Amino acid sequence: MSWPVVRLCTGASMPLLGLGTWKARENDCYQAVKTALGLGYRHIDTAELYQNEKEIGKALKENFATGLKREELFITSKLWSTRHHPDDVLPACQRSLTDLGLDYLDLYLMHFPAARARGDNFFPSDGKGKAAMMDIHFMETWKAMENLVDAGLVKAIGVSNFNISQMEEVLTNGRIKPAVNQVESHPYLGCHRLLECCTAKDVVMTAYCPLARPGSQEAKDFGVDSLLQDPAIVEISQKHGKTTAQVCIKWQIQRNVVVIPKSVTPARIQENSQLFDFELSEDEMSAINNLDRNARLVPFLACKGHPLYPFNGEF
Ligand SMILES: NC(=O)c1ccc[n+]([C@@H]2O[C@H](COP(=O)([O-])OP(=O)(O)OC[C@H]3O[C@@H](n4cnc5c(N)ncnc54)[C@H](OP(=O)(O)O)[C@@H]3O)[C@@H](O)[C@H]2O)c1
Repeated sequence: MSWPVVRLCTGASMPLLGLGTWKARENDCYQAVKTALGLGYRHIDTAELYQNEKEIGKALKENFATGLKREELFITSKLWSTRHHPDDVLPACQRSLTDLGLDYLDLYLMHFPAARARGDNFFPSDGKGKAAMMDIHFMETWKAMENLVDAGLVKAIGVSNFNISQMEEVLTNGRIKPAVNQVESHPYLGCHRLLECCTAKDVVMTAYCPLARPGSQEAKDFGVDSLLQDPAIVEISQKHGKTTAQVCIKWQIQRNVVVIPKSVTPARIQENSQLFDFELSEDEMSAINNLDRNARLVPFLACKGHPLYPFNGEF
């Protein structure tokens, strides 16, 4: 059976399931991508920030050598906030392409709406415990990203961590539409309003942290470490003979949200893809929708207070 896809406003197909790779580094990342491709994953999510594009490129190259075709894959990368100056956009994209060993990306996202100070330090500091920022509006950066589409380096562009009004600003003022908004979403952070807006405007929503990063310090700090043990999700998973992780991923797919669980563990990479032999009922979908508690794990706190900080707005 072929894995399900969603159509982007460009007409291209994007697989609803992809492999997340944040914090997958070096050999772990290379092995994870190889495992995933072997299992049938065709969508990989990365970013310059993750510092793993060379390892992903190595795994892709080996698969191309054994017959995998570039056009069967969907590769997403992201422009980090220190690259928002319009002069930095093309070089950043070219670096990602070189590291990945590709001549185009399927999707290039602006990683975050607010710009950090220019340079090679990913997390420049203002010396007072906050990020050093740069006064460049995301529409200036967006225009430079539109040029990447014109140049054929990326098939589609999109945004990430943009709230509803920021996304609408790009839709209104951009020449090229954002195809995707990638945001944190799991049953404790449903982003139901954002999903309605995306659907109305033909923007695809992608869910990051779909498992609420189990076992992480952030999950503990923000009180969502219990997601995979939530009684409502446990009950649904037992009914279907599935794991709670599989239920969380399937819930996103059934609401037509692209989902990118990260794992470097072969058994989990496989588990997270065994989704196509069961269906959640309408009641089960509603029960999961009702678990929303607006619990955000990735609040980019160092940028809080900046006028373009997205998380004061609606998602
Ligand atoms: N745009 C953005 O700003 C942004 C921000 C964050 C993330 N992302 C993207 O979204 C992807 C996913 O988010 P995430 O990595 O933060 O969180 P996640 O996918 O919710 O959680 C990843 C964690 O869950 C574990 N895991 C995976 N499958 C599991 C399973 N079936 N059962 C139990 N544990 C499981 C993984 O462990 P092992 O790896 O040890 O197996 C890893 O520790 C990222 O990798 C990245 O590609 C984007």
